[in-house]
Amino acid sequence: MIKERILVIGASGQIGVELTLALRKIYGNANVIASDLREENDLLKGTGPYVSMDVMNKEMLHVQVIRQGITQIYLLAAILSATGEKNPHLAWSLNMQSLLNVLDIAKEENLHKVYWPSSIAVFGPTSPKQNCPQQTIIEPTTVYGISKYAGEFWCNYYHHRYGIDVRSLRYPGLISYKSAPGAGTTDYAVEIFHEALEEKKYKCFLREDTYLPMMYMPDAIRATIELMEADASKISVRTSYNISAMSFSPKEIAAAIQKHIPAFAVSYKPDYRQPIADSWPQSIDDTVARKDWGWKEEFALERMVKDMLENLGNQLAIDNGQ
Ligand code: NAD
Ligand code: SER
Repeated sequence: MIKERILVIGASGQIGVELTLALRKIYGNANVIASDLREENDLLKGTGPYVSMDVMNKEMLHVQVIRQGITQIYLLAAILSATGEKNPHLAWSLNMQSLLNVLDIAKEENLHKVYWPSSIAVFGPTSPKQNCPQQTIIEPTTVYGISKYAGEFWCNYYHHRYGIDVRSLRYPGLISYKSAPGAGTTDYAVEIFHEALEEKKYKCFLREDTYLPMMYMPDAIRATIELMEADASKISVRTSYNISAMSFSPKEIAAAIQKHIPAFAVSYKPDYRQPIADSWPQSIDDTVARKDWGWKEEFALERMVKDMLENLGNQLAIDNGQ
């Protein structure tokens, strides 16, 4: 069996921390190199190698790939939807150039595999709102969505033109307790847990009836690894796979939390993120991912809420020295 050496770029972020830890369990701590522009996340410290790196510096990236004997790259560095609307040029530049740098180096160094996540943000107001299919009208209205859609076609291009085994998922909003999220529109569904446990009240930046597709982080990590480990013959989509687990509104997640914390109160003050959320589908059809490589979620709303409250509650107690 070929020994894989994996570089995770953006490893200190919301997905990066948990994905790096999961990959280290499979491939061995020393074979998964975490890297990020910011400092190493506390949860990664002592678990394996860490390199401080800017993915925009192609030469530095190339040197690291050669020096570390890298065979696979997971590229997670990006600017998400809400921050992207505040600085569209920066979002376009980082989200596109990082991908092109990685794909070029994958081609030059014959890397075995590349992973790059897309998002439900590729869809726009003209896409179907319910059970949005894999292939449909795709006219994104955020710079984040535009960059993800363009990125999907660069992945497809490098696969068909140069044979790069690049794979991708259109993640829904991801909910997790281990590391802080990176300023996305769906992140109210993470903030709400922190505020429920710490303040017993939350002011939501989306309307109470805003349905969005969501997924619990353990499902997202498992989906990513299952996609990357699937036999190449099963991968029919080389742009990015729709993937789905649950859909809910702020009102519904608040009610699910109130079953555990009856005193929890939520108010609503929609801001600039509301039109972003309104432009996205409310639910996703992921039939193709289920058929091609056997995707199936484990967490629906109630189970996710119970698990989040237990684990985040324990973590906050430790952080507060209790
Ligand atoms: P995040 O913002 O939490 O993490 C991104 C990491 O990239 C950060 O640690 C940041 O420091 C790092 N980074 C930024 N610029 C860099 C640079 N120039 N060089 C090296 N590192 C740099 O984001 P996340 O939520 O973990 O998202 C990871 C990926 O998944 C992104 O592509 C995002 O678009 C995608 N995604 C996330 C979600 C979600 O809900 N979290 C949903 C859909 C898609
Ligand atoms: N969670 C992401 C965001 O809201 C979707 O890609 O930006």
